[in-house]
Amino acid sequence: MDLPTFDLTKSSCEEQVASARPDLVIHAAAYTDVDGAEHQPDLAMAVNAQGTEWVARGTTRAKARLIYISTDYVFDGLKKTPYLESDLANPLNQYGKSKLEGERRALDLCHDSLVVRTSWLYGAHGKNFVKTMMRLAIEQPELRVVVDQRGCPTNAADLAQSLAKMLTLDIRGIVHATGTGDCTWYELASAIVSAMGRQNPVHPITTAEAGRRAARPSYSVLANCVLKQSGITLPPWQYSLIRFVGEHGHDSQFKSSNAELDSIVTIDGAP
Ligand SMILES: NC(=O)c1ccc[n+]([C@@H]2O[C@H](COP(=O)([O-])OP(=O)(O)OC[C@H]3O[C@@H](n4cnc5c(N)ncnc54)[C@H](OP(=O)(O)O)[C@@H]3O)[C@@H](O)[C@H]2O)c1
Repeated sequence: MDLPTFDLTKSSCEEQVASARPDLVIHAAAYTDVDGAEHQPDLAMAVNAQGTEWVARGTTRAKARLIYISTDYVFDGLKKTPYLESDLANPLNQYGKSKLEGERRALDLCHDSLVVRTSWLYGAHGKNFVKTMMRLAIEQPELRVVVDQRGCPTNAADLAQSLAKMLTLDIRGIVHATGTGDCTWYELASAIVSAMGRQNPVHPITTAEAGRRAARPSYSVLANCVLKQSGITLPPWQYSLIRFVGEHGHDSQFKSSNAELDSIVTIDGAP
């Protein structure tokens, strides 16, 4: 069935979800501009928290199951070991605060809800760090990339497969679902260049040098404890990255010169 267009800032979302009579709602839509959210905290909260509330209420009315996609940016990055599902969230920026509030509303308002926190997502569609680096490796002789933020790159297709497995199990509450292993943005960019068989020098820079508006956690590695207990693992990030570059390295969208390219996206990733 084709679905209507949803505007998460409108309360009519609740009725739209309820009347679609779904068995399952995977709520991945969000205000994801991390730096923009510092300018527009009310809009970020309206979409990510209030919008999630409408979706959760509609899902409950439909007696359906809800999966809410959330983020590693709910953590402050002060830990030195991977974050567990039970660790206290303490977001550093407005985006993280709005997503955390979305988590709370999903859990409070839909008894059959699952919050899935993922990180450093990339895939064939939309803007993401991996696609940007693949394009820049062709367009620019050298790259400058942030070295003092560490996280877990996650292939969207791997995440989707893990969601399908989660659905076969009776998991509720909060789970972490990321690619296995961790790295810095700099290490990720170097791996992309290498997987492309290119020689572009990649230069490490600091977060301070990058000069982004929103603060970001320096360490947001997630431990997939609940998934591990359920026998679900995502592939090592290096494996999925090499597969992705192999599958998409020849796509025109990764190669074409894009005048809108913002040099700032060369230095670290999206949410
Ligand atoms: N990207 C990451 O690294 C990352 C990491 C952790 C978690 N996440 C989470 O994963 C999910 C997907 O992220 P993504 O990077 O794929 O996001 P994205 O590319 O920015 O896509 C977000 C989607 O949300 C829709 N949207 C935004 N505002 C809306 C509104 N008011 N009403 C209805 N739809 C609206 C957008 O629609 P339009 O295209 O029409 O604007 C877009 O389709 C999000 O929940 C995000 O918080 C992402």
